Amino acid sequence: GEDVLVLGIETSCDDTAAAVVRGNGEILSQVVSSQADLLARYGGVAPKMAEEAHALVIDKVVQQALDNANLTEKELSAVAVTIGPGLSLCLRVGVSKARRIAGMFRLPIVGVHHMEAHALVARLVQRDLQFPFLGLLISGGHNLLILAQSLGNYVQLGTTIDDAIGEAYDKTARWLGLDMRKGGGPALEELAREGDANSIKFSIPMRQHKDCNFSYAGLKTQVRMAIESRNLCVDDVPLSAATFDDRKLRADIAASFQRVAVLHLEERCQRAIEWALKIEPSIKCLVVSGGVASNQYVRCRLNHIVEENGLKLVCPPPSLCTDNGVMIAWTGIEHFRLGRYDPPPPPDEAEDAQ
Ligand code: KG4
Ligand code: ZN
Repeated sequence: GEDVLVLGIETSCDDTAAAVVRGNGEILSQVVSSQADLLARYGGVAPKMAEEAHALVIDKVVQQALDNANLTEKELSAVAVTIGPGLSLCLRVGVSKARRIAGMFRLPIVGVHHMEAHALVARLVQRDLQFPFLGLLISGGHNLLILAQSLGNYVQLGTTIDDAIGEAYDKTARWLGLDMRKGGGPALEELAREGDANSIKFSIPMRQHKDCNFSYAGLKTQVRMAIESRNLCVDDVPLSAATFDDRKLRADIAASFQRVAVLHLEERCQRAIEWALKIEPSIKCLVVSGGVASNQYVRCRLNHIVEENGLKLVCPPPSLCTDNGVMIAWTGIEHFRLGRYDPPPPPDEAEDAQ
């Protein structure tokens, strides 16, 4: 149990990641190859392009993870790989790599759900974190509130009816003309520190819906209108820095957007905590994970709500909040321990997958 060694592979979106983790939670290696440059140039994920980018680096990323862990494939106990949700062309690159290794070295395979991995990595970070716990998973594609009752048993308390919060951060950052190479979210968080969060009035989404669902499309539209009415952006194309030198105004928009985007999270978390405690009074923690959970402002505001309710916030370090191989390896370990895995594929079939 404690000694198993699992290789985790993640290719569901725009990062190619691999890691080796031990059953006791020790991270032996962690490698991430980002397509952020590609994304910044083309303005979004084009599946075919993302697939090619994964295919180009997957062998190197996995080899690096093994080398950094000082291991060969033979010493592994299993291979874990993201099987969804995500872009199927991209997922396939990771899955066929995992099957090739597993076939060649007779290793079991654990197929991992990407969002489950975002939630469960909290149990690696905080080894005494027990079920049941509440989870808020916030990324570019997902906005979920879940009640994790036991391994593999999750009740969905809320989801987004349109966009996820990370998508709203990314679009706002693009419209504000920020440097997308480091990611829209981090760029916006940085700029927002200089702004007045109360300067522009955006309304909090879904106030009249007394549930735990989310909506960010309306806020996106409000931000877009605020930007266009001030002539900061034309048709998705930000005006060049030369035409536009009002950094303070951009910072005010960024800060005002962030305040309302996070207020929406706060309100939904407050309600989810009330709901969840009725179902599972023994809940002690809210796990916040996914790329947006690496945001300091988000962490600080949610920590406040959680503490007011007598609970504890568990938020993985930023490198484990954004997409990574560690969370896949760790979730693989959790399932592998309970005997939930597939037998090694036949070696020749693995070759065919190529
Ligand atoms: O979990 P993740 O790495 O990939 C998905 O599964 O989507 O999340 C990526 C999202 C992006 O929208 C990115 O802009 C956002 O997380 N993000 C942030 C921050 N860092 C990453 N959003 C706000 N503030 C941040 N510091
Ligand atoms: Zn993710």
